[in-house]
Amino acid sequence: MLNAGASARRDNQFGRDAYSMSETRQPHSAEHFTNDRDHWWNADYLDLLQQRYALQTCRRVLEFGAGIGHWTVLLRGLCAPDATFTLIEREPEWIAALERRFSDQPGIAAVCADVTDMPTFDAPFDLVTCQTLLMHIADVEEVLRAARRLLRPGGLLLVVEPNNLANRLQATPDSGLTPEEFGALAALWWAWEIGRTKRGFGREWIAEELPRLIVRAGFTNLTASQNDKLFLRYPPYDTLDQTVVHGSLTEAIAAATELEPRTQVWDYCLAGGLDALGFERGWAALEMLARRTSDGLCAGSLSSAGLANFCVFGARAPFS
Ligand SMILES: C[S@@+](CC[C@H](N)C(=O)[O-])C[C@H]1O[C@@H](n2cnc3c(N)ncnc32)[C@H](O)[C@@H]1O
Repeated sequence: MLNAGASARRDNQFGRDAYSMSETRQPHSAEHFTNDRDHWWNADYLDLLQQRYALQTCRRVLEFGAGIGHWTVLLRGLCAPDATFTLIEREPEWIAALERRFSDQPGIAAVCADVTDMPTFDAPFDLVTCQTLLMHIADVEEVLRAARRLLRPGGLLLVVEPNNLANRLQATPDSGLTPEEFGALAALWWAWEIGRTKRGFGREWIAEELPRLIVRAGFTNLTASQNDKLFLRYPPYDTLDQTVVHGSLTEAIAAATELEPRTQVWDYCLAGGLDALGFERGWAALEMLARRTSDGLCAGSLSSAGLANFCVFGARAPFS
């Protein structure tokens, strides 16, 4: 048995956003807006969030980095039935997609803007929220300060962000990696993260930093929890969840060996302080893990709990 972990591009649910700006000329995250985003949450955990944060009392909602509305749709069912949603998105293509998606739903407006340079609004919001946005932002504290300014006193900040450094390192001893190979893999992803940040693409482990940043941005009553969804993988890999997240078995086998582009990983890793030898060792371990994942799927021996560090932070704008 081995843990599919985060070795291959498709297997890392929350890490699949990293390259979109630098690698392709498509709009940000284009290749990642797939149906699996609708399966990131257990419905009863969302109910718990609603209860915990009294989301049903939120009537004016502002979402940062809305993409094509995956988080919006879920929130819509949790906030006040007559809630209005203002969706901030930088990519004109996604604005058009949002307008199409919500054209028959009054009260949802898409605004083309950069969250690092927010426009002003007529009235403050009850809720400012985002999902997998801050991991792409260089100056997260600035965006959090903007959120605070736009909230009413006592208004809720609700942010959902991963720690993809942890998510990428979920190989178990069953993966067949030696301790040295696992160390090389860890060094590769560690350097990759540092290099990515240096290149100005944000921090994929942003969840770890958020408590400090949220408090520094002036919020109070900080609470946090963890999305309780696990992305199970077990033979014969044909449950609805597995099929939606990983595709058919044939697709999953192909995707298992679909690694991040080597030149991109090289660039980030060297920017992050890894030398050429360290990179080659890490890359070899990555390839081996990917191959074992693919082989494990073919043989029907791969099994994984699919842990995902995906955190929910709630905090309140101060009253004074
Ligand atoms: C990973 S996607 C998340 C989309 C959506 N929140 C979801 O969970 O499906 C990140 C989104 O943030 C947008 N984005 C990235 N940087 C932004 C910025 N500085 N201002 C506004 N939107 C931004 C991207 O265009 C992309 O649609």
